[in-house]
Amino acid sequence: MMKILLLGKGGQVGWELQRALTPLGSIVAVDFDSTDCCGDFTNLEGLAAAVRAVAPDVIVNAAAHTAVDKAESEPVLARTINALAAGVLAREAARSGALLVHYSTDYVFDGSGDVPRDESAATGPLSVYGATKLEGEQLIQQSACRHLIFRTSWVYAARGGNFAKTMLKLARERERLTIIDDQIGAPTGADLLADVTAHAIRTMQARPDLCGLYHLVAGGETSWHGYAKFVIDFARRAGEALAVKEVAPVSTTSFPTPAKRPLNSRLSTVKLQDTFKLTLPDWRVGVERMLVEVLGK
Ligand SMILES: NC(=O)c1ccc[n+]([C@@H]2O[C@H](COP(=O)([O-])OP(=O)(O)OC[C@H]3O[C@@H](n4cnc5c(N)ncnc54)[C@H](OP(=O)(O)O)[C@@H]3O)[C@@H](O)[C@H]2O)c1
Repeated sequence: MMKILLLGKGGQVGWELQRALTPLGSIVAVDFDSTDCCGDFTNLEGLAAAVRAVAPDVIVNAAAHTAVDKAESEPVLARTINALAAGVLAREAARSGALLVHYSTDYVFDGSGDVPRDESAATGPLSVYGATKLEGEQLIQQSACRHLIFRTSWVYAARGGNFAKTMLKLARERERLTIIDDQIGAPTGADLLADVTAHAIRTMQARPDLCGLYHLVAGGETSWHGYAKFVIDFARRAGEALAVKEVAPVSTTSFPTPAKRPLNSRLSTVKLQDTFKLTLPDWRVGVERMLVEVLGK
């Protein structure tokens, strides 16, 4: 039976992975404060010891420092969690022959242009978060361990806070919202990421040659403004009492933040869909499903 070590079990993706990985084998799922097995990414020696103790066939890393603005003021911590810890997992995977599954981000790119980037496109992170995630990718690739790295974007989940829930709250309270309309990407459900991960791990049992870097996002594209409009229109049709009368588009420059974000977050998923024989659904499919859960409709 396949033994899986899941790190970062309490995050958006980690939570969904606990569900999606269950049919694959036995899972040891840990978080940064687990007591029986070290899942704290600031304790690099403890992390290496945990991998050796569990001796998994597959390591799935859903832990990360994802607070993009905060990372600007704590670059050492962000680098330890996003890069050095990923490097430790890669070293242990290379030593034992385990498969390492890891997640990265569209923020490794500079966001120029207006076409989707594929896996061979030049990187150029604009933020500490993006730079540390890129270093994590590189440490994994240099380790020569068997790996799957999935770059994704705009992740949401029904559990916990997310952009759609914030929009619903604001739409109930305010008559006018201003939302950024010049960052373009694809909202991607943590459930989709987890399900594709399980499929890829299963496929790789017979095809170990498929390891590598893949872009994994939902189909289609939108702006944060388009995303907010979609959420609010859906809620209104579902009978929610909303105060909002206007959702005004504004540029990124209207909302200065510590971390710079890419304008073009489009990722091409041709490689993933062709390799793993998958069809990635339009972003609206998953967001609608999440809204049904959140609104209880
Ligand atoms: N969220 C996005 O929009 C997005 C976009 C592109 C790529 N990604 C990537 O997708 C992956 C999953 O992200 P997500 O959205 O599921 O993020 P998330 O919900 O923030 O989950 C990250 C998890 O890592 C944990 N963590 C933080 N510091 C840790 C430490 N020192 N040791 C161990 N665990 C620690 C967090 O715990 P606490 O919650 O207790 O801090 C949380 O459970 C990450 O690799 C991320 O970079 C995310």
